[in-house]
Amino acid sequence: MIVLIIILFLASEVLAEQAVYVGMDKCKACHSKIVKEYSGFKRSRNFRILEMRGKEHDPQCLPCHTTGYGEPGGFVSVEKTPHLKNVQCETCHGPASLHLKATTLEEKRKTVKVPHNICTKCHTQHGHREF
Ligand code: HEC
Ligand code: HEC
Ligand code: HEC
Ligand code: HEC
Repeated sequence: MIVLIIILFLASEVLAEQAVYVGMDKCKACHSKIVKEYSGFKRSRNFRILEMRGKEHDPQCLPCHTTGYGEPGGFVSVEKTPHLKNVQCETCHGPASLHLKATTLEEKRKTVKVPHNICTKCHTQHGHREF
């Protein structure tokens, strides 16, 4: 019984530590310059190219044209998670809910990734101009 309680306690601790996606609007408060600059890029609105082709529900397309598709707290569908359409900050930096909550500079830096090899996850050698 005690063992079970300890396991449940540990499990809930792990769950509590899991970061979830929050969407780009939440970054504005502290990184307004970066959000503004990124929003200026046409590619920050890339979800439109799926919508224009009626592909906004196609699971083959969503992994690379949304934020956190298939991951905990990530994009599910246009209806359920409209704030996670497009390739946003957290696509590269990872889910940032714990980053928002962090109270020290050190924690702030630890709760997001500054990626190195992330680009090739989506930018494969052979593009797909045929779409
Ligand atoms: C409450 C303020 C606040 C919010 C909101 C916030 N950040 Fe930050 N962020 C910080 C601070 C403070 C730092 C540390 C800056 C430093 O290192 O000097 C930081 C650093 C970062 C870094 C760099 C980490 C590193 O290793 O240097 C990234 C990436 C980042 N934030 C992404 C995001 C994203 C993405 C969002 C929105 C989902 C976001 N932040 C929202 C305050 C915030
Ligand atoms: C492996 C990741 C990945 C998948 C899966 C993916 N895309 Fe893309 N898509 C990209 C990247 C990266 C770009 C931008 C660079 C490029 O054009 O190759 C892009 C660009 C595009 C463009 C613009 C191309 C152009 O010529 O301007 C269209 C349209 C598009 N994708 C549609 C789709 C559709 C429809 C699907 C699903 C059938 C899909 N994509 C699946 C990564 C992906
Ligand atoms: C396509 C991937 C990608 C996206 C999208 C992205 N970043 Fe970054 N970001 C990076 C990379 C890579 C670096 C590291 C750059 C370097 O080391 O010079 C970085 C660095 C940073 C840094 C630390 C360095 C600095 O300039 O202060 C912050 C803060 C940051 N990004 C915030 C954001 C926010 C906020 C957004 C959304 C508006 C965003 N990023 C969108 C890839 C991305
Ligand atoms: C989750 C998938 C994903 C990741 C990761 C990603 N991208 Fe992209 N990127 C895209 C898609 C999708 C587009 C197409 C947007 C459009 O055509 O509107 C794109 C477009 C671009 C473009 C515009 C190119 C063009 O043909 O118009 C640049 C530049 C770019 N990405 C750079 C980067 C860099 C640098 C990184 C890594 C730091 C990165 N991307 C990581 C999905 C991704």
